[in-house]
This record gives sequence, structure tokens and C-alpha cells, in this order.
Amino acid sequence: AHPGAAGVDPFALVGPDIDAMSASIRQLLGVDHPVLRNVAAYFFEQGGGKKFRPTMVLLVSRATAPLMAEAQTPYVAEAGAHGPAVDAAPAYRRAAFLPGRGAEDVAASQLRLAEITELIHTASLLHDDVIDEADTRRGVASVNSVFGNKLAVLAGDFLLARASICLARLRDVPVVECMSTIIEHLVRGEVQQMRSESKGEGVDVAFEAYMTKSFYKTASLVANSCRSAAMLAGHSDEVVDAAYRYGKHTGLAFQLVDDALDFSGSAESLGKPAMNDVAQGLTTAPVLFAARTYPELQPLMERKFRVPGDVETVAHAVKESGGLDKTHALAVAHAQMALDALAAFPPSEHRDALAALAARVVTRSS
Ligand code: FPP
Ligand code: MG
Ligand code: MG
Repeated sequence: AHPGAAGVDPFALVGPDIDAMSASIRQLLGVDHPVLRNVAAYFFEQGGGKKFRPTMVLLVSRATAPLMAEAQTPYVAEAGAHGPAVDAAPAYRRAAFLPGRGAEDVAASQLRLAEITELIHTASLLHDDVIDEADTRRGVASVNSVFGNKLAVLAGDFLLARASICLARLRDVPVVECMSTIIEHLVRGEVQQMRSESKGEGVDVAFEAYMTKSFYKTASLVANSCRSAAMLAGHSDEVVDAAYRYGKHTGLAFQLVDDALDFSGSAESLGKPAMNDVAQGLTTAPVLFAARTYPELQPLMERKFRVPGDVETVAHAVKESGGLDKTHALAVAHAQMALDALAAFPPSEHRDALAALAARVVTRSS
């Protein structure tokens, strides 16, 4: 559907920006909290992950940049007739029209935004490893296992505080609101996952709850970050919404694949134990698909697979029911919705890279 997408390396395309972002995060952490700095730096220096999220933010920024001149035209044209056009523009577009917010300023603010996205993501991982009592992340010792829970929680809080300061400095209140929503969603997703998920309400309701939880836990961060990138440039509602939908569906596809890999991947490829979700009592898409074929899984889900033999029963049911293929097919459907959203952006290599990124999400094996 999107010619050229196959040949583009999304990570290489924004590599220099990502390097600049990482350097900026290091600088941001290195002020007057030596202990927290060490803890946070430990995390960032462990390979630092794929930088999947900031890459998306930067690619959306670049892919929509050619639309900026267009977005500003109505303001210029209507300025005389309708009084101060700043008030006539949708609220979120005002900041982009403020003096001193030319293309270069917008690009700089979008780079800051990518940083904020990475900071919020990292904070959530530090807290997540405390909640999950995880000993490792990406195959290396987790912050909580090296420095203890208290410092891991504080380091996460520190990163959130830094993210908040960075966000305020963008001087764009609607973007502050949009990005703050992410933090609420992360907490909602985590709490929803913690609560007993299935109380005999049936597979359809449980599936609905699972998708909502996946949006809160994973997709909201990318959806609202991509949306904010478009808002910073003052783009039209249509483009802002397309950026949001691209992020949302790519995020949902990502989580679905993650949940399938938990069954099909190995400890080495995942950097954490395989079948970890079931071991933690979590019901994910492969199990829910299996439960459609085998309703007798319901009581196992309700008791969080705690009875000896439950884990094996679930693994078998997932295999027999084709639960992994069905999960993968749903992930592909969401990746397609992400590709469809890209139609709102003009053709460019950055748009191709966004398409390649969405495609890569569903073909990855780790
Ligand atoms: C990883 O999930 C966890 C998240 C994506 C979100 C965690 C959110 C919180 C702990 C709430 C607090 C939020 C903030 C912003 C500090 P996982 O455990 O399923 O995956 P994993 O394999 O990466 O551990
Ligand atoms: Mg975890
Ligand atoms: Mg978790």
C-alpha cells in the first residue's frame, strides 16, 4: 500500500536526532542529585533499548513538517478580517502561531518532546520492575535489583519530575495536557492489570477490558506523543488525529505482539523468562482467544493460573486453539489501521519510515 516502505530504515533516518536526544537526557539528569543521577544513568547506559518511541515522535514530526506552511495559511489570510487570528485558531494551534515559533523552533520543540516521551517511558519501566519484582530488564540486572526498591521508585519519580519541567518549557498548555494524560493512563493501565480481571463476565467483556488496558499501558504513550508532535507544529485537526491514530494502532499492535512473544519467544530472545505473563497470573490475548475455543479456561483465568498444572494447561490450549495466530492476525489488523492513518501525511521517506516501523512491529521476534 505504501511503496518504498520496505527499503527504509526508520532508526537510521533519525539516528543523529536520537543521539542528540540521548546526550540531552544525560545532561538533564546530571544536575545536583548524585544518587538519583547514578541510578538513572545506570538504566540509560544499559544499551538504552531500541528508542522505538522517540523514533516515532521524530518521524511523525518530519513526515508532517511539509504541512506546516499550509497549516499557517488560514491564520495569515484571516488576520485582518476576524481580529486577532490567534483567538480564532483552535486552542491547541495557538502556540505554533506565537512569534518566534518558526519551523526551526517547532523542530526543536519536537526534539524536546521525543525526550519527554523517553523519560516518561523510562520512569514507567523503573516503577514497573518494582511492581513486577523483576530481577532483569533487557537481559541485565534491573535497577531495583541493583539499588533496591526505594531508590528505583525515587529514580522513576525523578525522571517524571524532569519530564514535567521539560514539558512546561515547551510553553504549550494543550500539549502539557495531552502528555500529562499519558501518565494518568499508565497508572490506570497498571491498576486495571492488578485488579482481578475476570469475574465470570465472559470472554467478550474480558477481551474489551484487555484492549482498554493495552491502550492505557502501551498505546496511549505513543498515540498522545505522536499527537503532541503534530500539535506543536500547529497542524490541522485532521493531521493531529491521524498522528494519534497512527500511534494508537501501532502501540496496540506492539502490545499484541509482545503478548504473543511471551508464549512463543525464548528467555534469551526476550531478555526475561518466557511464559512470564501466565506465571504472573495475567490473562492476555492468546489466552482470551484460546478461551473462546475452550470455555473451561475461565476458572483457571479467575484463579490466576495458581493451581499446579494450570500454566501447562493454558500453554496447551493456546497452541491447540491457534491463539497465537489469532493474536498475530489482530496485531496485523491494527498495523494496517496505522498504515491507513498515514494517508493523511504527504508522501515522503519519513512517511515510508513510519510505515516500515508499523510493519516491523508485527514481524519482530524480540
Ligand atoms: C511494562 O509492562 C509496563 C508499562 C508499559 C507501564 C507501567 C506503568 C506503571 C508502573 C505506572 C506508573 C507510571 C509512571 C509514569 C511512573 P510489562 O510489565 O507488561 O512489560 P515488561 O516486560 O516490559 O516488564
Ligand atoms: Mg514488567
Ligand atoms: Mg508490569
